[in-house]
Amino acid sequence: MTATAVSMPNSALPAFPNLSPASSSEAPPRSDLLTLVDRIRHAAANEHNASPDSHSQLLTLIDELKLAVETPNETVLRLIYQPPQNAALRTVMDMGICPLLVQHAHRGLSASELASHTGAERALIVRLMRVMVALGLCDNPSTEVYLPNSKTLALTQPIGRDGVPCIYDLTLPTLSKLPDYFRDHQYVMPREYKSCPMQWAVGQSQFEWLAQRKLSQTRFNSYMASRRQGKPAWFDTFPVERLSRTAVTRDDAVFLVDVGGNQGHDLVRFRKRFPSVAGRVVLQDLPKVLASAPASSLKEDGVETMGYSFFDPQPVKGARIYYFRAIFHDWPDDICRQILANTVSAMDAEYSRIVIVDFVLPDTHAPLLQSSLDIQMMSIGAGAERSESQWKELLGSAGLEIRSVWRNGPGMESVMEVAVR
Ligand SMILES: C[S@@+](CC[C@H](N)C(=O)[O-])C[C@H]1O[C@@H](n2cnc3c(N)ncnc32)[C@H](O)[C@@H]1O
Repeated sequence: MTATAVSMPNSALPAFPNLSPASSSEAPPRSDLLTLVDRIRHAAANEHNASPDSHSQLLTLIDELKLAVETPNETVLRLIYQPPQNAALRTVMDMGICPLLVQHAHRGLSASELASHTGAERALIVRLMRVMVALGLCDNPSTEVYLPNSKTLALTQPIGRDGVPCIYDLTLPTLSKLPDYFRDHQYVMPREYKSCPMQWAVGQSQFEWLAQRKLSQTRFNSYMASRRQGKPAWFDTFPVERLSRTAVTRDDAVFLVDVGGNQGHDLVRFRKRFPSVAGRVVLQDLPKVLASAPASSLKEDGVETMGYSFFDPQPVKGARIYYFRAIFHDWPDDICRQILANTVSAMDAEYSRIVIVDFVLPDTHAPLLQSSLDIQMMSIGAGAERSESQWKELLGSAGLEIRSVWRNGPGMESVMEVAVR
């Protein structure tokens, strides 16, 4: 297939009254804007006691308003200039500017002071910081003076400090070549982990790449542990008591296994919330990943650790729950089936459940975060975010069925209870 850039001739446009050439730079009707503003006002009034749902609804409305206010040309320009923003942010993170600003929060720092702290050229700092200020990531009270705000602080916490460089370094080299990959592959979706776009672009897929880069792996682990802080946990929607009431209470019985649980952050939250649920709680991940988990504090929190690859049969037999969060979206269907088969081999068909926490894409209007992650997962491991029918098909092909789905807001994964069919 050859692809050529096609631009719509003006003669093709008049059939669509709202698509005249002039409409690219026209402002939207005022009445539409005011209706949206009213809806935002209403949603904002509830924001102080917001549920995660109403918070994300407010954000969605604000996005809608921005789109409605922007002319189409402004929208296109905003999109065109996203890459330099990410590159500037990544550079600022390398220079350690955010922690410096937070340390000097009372009066901020000038570009010259930042230059003497970092060794970077003042004029470069000024150019990078223009982008930071325009993105709202710090304040700029006077010429070449920068003050931290709450977003600067977030960039010094694990979610920003580790998440920004980790995800940039892991994904950008591949994403920048994604159009070339698809041109080269006749626009066919990648279906194999070992020949995903990242393999094609940089010679490795995500987990091998991370395993060979200690700093990136450490950042990845830290980011995994931090990225959902302050958000509801899976057990805030999933009825844990229903399964714990009828759980086996023998000393060696396992209640919950977190498969691919990284540093054990989810299990620590679980133990704190349900200290008296009977049964062992086991964290599994690759031995190399568990080597950096806080083993002694996990033990104090009642969490056992077990090095395990989910490409081997599950060694913990007959647990009440095998819990997988953000695991299946990393992998294509055939590998998900292997992981599921290895789990099913350990399940008690009547008693055990699999709990999957991952996005369940809606059939229309998938949120931007979910759609973007889908492209990222496809690129770095031929993984995918899945719709409910795709989940049903995948799980059905492994002899499993979905018993219930608890859907959360657009920024949040859904929770699925899965049993042997
Ligand atoms: C996207 S992270 C999710 C981590 C955690 N469940 C969470 O939601 O924060 C994927 C996890 O799968 C783990 N993983 C990758 N390959 C694995 C394998 N073969 N066996 C077990 N875990 C693996 C990674 O080390 C990583 O911790």
